[in-house]
Amino acid sequence: MKLGVNIDHIATLRNARGGLEPDLVEAAKIALREDILALTMHLREDRRHIKDKDLYDVKALGAKINLEMAAVAEIQKIALDVLPYSVCLVPERRQEVTTEGGLDACGQKEYLKEFIKPLKDKGILVSLFVDADLAQADAAKYCGADYIEMHTGAFSQAFENNDYQNEFNKLIQTAKYAQDLGLKVNAGHGLNYQNVYLMKKIDGLCELNIGHSIISRSIFVGLKTAIREMLELIK
Ligand code: PXP
Repeated sequence: MKLGVNIDHIATLRNARGGLEPDLVEAAKIALREDILALTMHLREDRRHIKDKDLYDVKALGAKINLEMAAVAEIQKIALDVLPYSVCLVPERRQEVTTEGGLDACGQKEYLKEFIKPLKDKGILVSLFVDADLAQADAAKYCGADYIEMHTGAFSQAFENNDYQNEFNKLIQTAKYAQDLGLKVNAGHGLNYQNVYLMKKIDGLCELNIGHSIISRSIFVGLKTAIREMLELIK
């Protein structure tokens, strides 16, 4: 299982003052020295954290980027220019604090199928961020996605409430179902140093994308150590 480190929150902190600190490129360099698969960055339509320049600056480091994005033409154009290693299509609502809920792939199958084509033509791997739901996995397959990323937000919330078995079972079932369809399966959202061990119990998960807990921990121990501690837990 590989780790994608989501560095959006470094940009959130920087943007709080409108200046240059903390330096996102410096954070990217530190993360890239560790045994991670990719840097995950979400270029939101409202640019509330990652800005266009951040994306190009990090790409210039030679980084593998997993670009989270809404399925809209404006960001697709940027993706086709930046050529990230992968894109993960996510739903976006302006007022949300973070990505709440998965993409409704079932409800926009034809649109997504067309949207994904030019990305795949450029060799970009495509993932759909969906809830742990068999019908969403079917839709992802239909659209031509390579991966689903299972939204682990509900599981993470349930874990905090000490009542996670039901949500965890949904993740196990969806992962197995999607793999049988020929999709690769990732997971992310709300994963932290306490709950991440359970991801190892889901057969064949490829990648975990983790941001908030790693960046939070880095305040106390530094980014390098925070990433290493997470890598230790998932290996
Ligand atoms: N994966 C996706 C698709 C996301 O939207 C996010 C949040 O930006 C994450 C993973 C990481 O979530 P967290 O910051 O809670 O670790």
